[in-house]
Amino acid sequence: MTNPLATMAASKASRTRRQMVAGDPSARDRDDFYSTPTEGTLALLSVEKFYGSIAEPACGMGHISKVLIDLGYNVWSSDLVDRGYGAPRIDFLMNTYQVDNIITNPPFKLAVPFVLKALELTKEAGGKVAMLLKTTFFESMDRSPVMDEFPPSRFYPFADRLQCLRGNDEKHGIGGGMMSFTWFVWDHRATGPLTMPCRLRAADFAATKALAHPSRRKPKAPTTQQELFQQAQP
Ligand SMILES: C[S@@+](CC[C@H](N)C(=O)[O-])C[C@H]1O[C@@H](n2cnc3c(N)ncnc32)[C@H](O)[C@@H]1O
Repeated sequence: MTNPLATMAASKASRTRRQMVAGDPSARDRDDFYSTPTEGTLALLSVEKFYGSIAEPACGMGHISKVLIDLGYNVWSSDLVDRGYGAPRIDFLMNTYQVDNIITNPPFKLAVPFVLKALELTKEAGGKVAMLLKTTFFESMDRSPVMDEFPPSRFYPFADRLQCLRGNDEKHGIGGGMMSFTWFVWDHRATGPLTMPCRLRAADFAATKALAHPSRRKPKAPTTQQELFQQAQP
């Protein structure tokens, strides 16, 4: 059965996507391209484990993908725009492939349809979806039907405000430090209520080159939210 939320969100998003594909300069492409610094991805991996394949479907210049690949993950990267990394001109919202996990930092404007699509594509495998979103994703009334129907399993704000990079510019962040980002994680195997957030510190990972890759052994299926959370602790 078609999910009415997904249909609404997808139609709202389709005009922006058409503009971006057509190269319309009024589209939000430029503004919506910002990159995740390495420490942002490392911080996520310090609290969440991922088993199986990972898709990064809005990979930009590969900032998240490169960290995952360095750590031994099997990653499929794509983007709507050709930014010289991953498979270009692939509209994630039109994808139908199933994948174990999805990790990305989606465009602001398409956050809701990205979450819904990612949940659909990982459901069969029972994996996880991790999205780096503005912390205000929790707040808007527009988004509350999504949050009510598909609440995240866990979320991780940054105690020291992660600064995403304007485009690929390592020197300049977006939002002048005023923008707050949080990792939201949806885990198809989680049960029970949303757990308390664990605050991350990006600075703890600024000098880290690599983390130990988790064992490839299939983990025992956790049964409670508490077990899931404990299992994710480094
Ligand atoms: C905020 S940037 C994030 C880049 C990368 N994930 C990172 O964290 O460094 C968002 C990316 O989403 C891409 N994008 C926008 N709409 C898309 C769509 N419908 N399908 C796939 N990618 C899309 C943009 O081209 C841009 O590269």
